[in-house]
Amino acid sequence: MSETLKGYTALITGGSSGLGFEMAKALLGQGATVIIAARGGERLENALKTLGETGDAHAVAMDVRDAASVEAAAEWFRGRFPRPDMLVCCAGIGGNAPGMEVLPPDHAFWEIPAEAVRAVLDTNLLGFFLVSRSFVPLMARGGSLVYVSTSDATLTRPGQLPYGPSKAGAEAMAAILAQELKPGGIAVNVVCPGGFTDTAMAPPGLKERMLSDGLPVLPPTVLNETILWLASGAAAGLTGEKLVGKDFRQWLEKRKEGEPSR
Ligand SMILES: NC(=O)c1ccc[n+]([C@@H]2O[C@H](COP(=O)([O-])OP(=O)(O)OC[C@H]3O[C@@H](n4cnc5c(N)ncnc54)[C@H](OP(=O)(O)O)[C@@H]3O)[C@@H](O)[C@H]2O)c1
Repeated sequence: MSETLKGYTALITGGSSGLGFEMAKALLGQGATVIIAARGGERLENALKTLGETGDAHAVAMDVRDAASVEAAAEWFRGRFPRPDMLVCCAGIGGNAPGMEVLPPDHAFWEIPAEAVRAVLDTNLLGFFLVSRSFVPLMARGGSLVYVSTSDATLTRPGQLPYGPSKAGAEAMAAILAQELKPGGIAVNVVCPGGFTDTAMAPPGLKERMLSDGLPVLPPTVLNETILWLASGAAAGLTGEKLVGKDFRQWLEKRKEGEPSR
């Protein structure tokens, strides 16, 4: 195991599955201490068991929709770790939100149940706020706050209610926090895969439809290089940026050449 991130502590919400789980594995592989957070139960326990074989992994149950649950997790963290160097807000829901899975793919927006809208906004927008509110103050000597979002097109594409607006809101929050937290040395950046990614979030049959239509399906490891770079000293000073996992290498090349990144 490489030790480039030894002594570095990262907390990843949504670390029990998909992109969050893979980012946790990548950071552990570089020697970081990683705490995964999710609602708890078997999925979180199994993820911790697997990640524990890779490195210094920990888990905490936290429902990001619930302020008391998030605060209790922050209290738990405070008693065990010096500070978070990186906080990755990755927990999210979309087409798998309660009430969304029964809608036909071509549904009208007025068919979306209010409960589904509330669940998506509570998880993807309020959740990012609550987690940031409880954990950023623990980053006493600076750090890296990362919001996992979606491609620019998905923010406003037809059929993307309520997921698109939930992520647009999270990106707006990241832009605000990037400015507010800059004087304290906390970087705030957004990452996204850059397309449909093969995780548990996908509604049943979507991956198969994508593949049969010849559309790309990205692996859940698509954000690993990006997150490792953000955790490295090379990212020092970068804030208010949106990085696309599938295009990260080209972005980095352009940055090295001194070209504008976006
Ligand atoms: N898959 C894609 O195509 C895609 C594309 C762009 C962006 N994203 C974003 O990537 C992020 C990760 O999604 P994924 O694709 O990896 O899906 P996933 O495999 O379903 O993972 C979602 C994670 O969020 C956690 N979670 C959900 N609700 C939660 C809550 N209330 N409190 C705490 N944790 C909660 C889940 O844990 P438990 O269920 O164990 O609680 C799980 O660990 C999301 O923000 C998503 O919007 C995904």
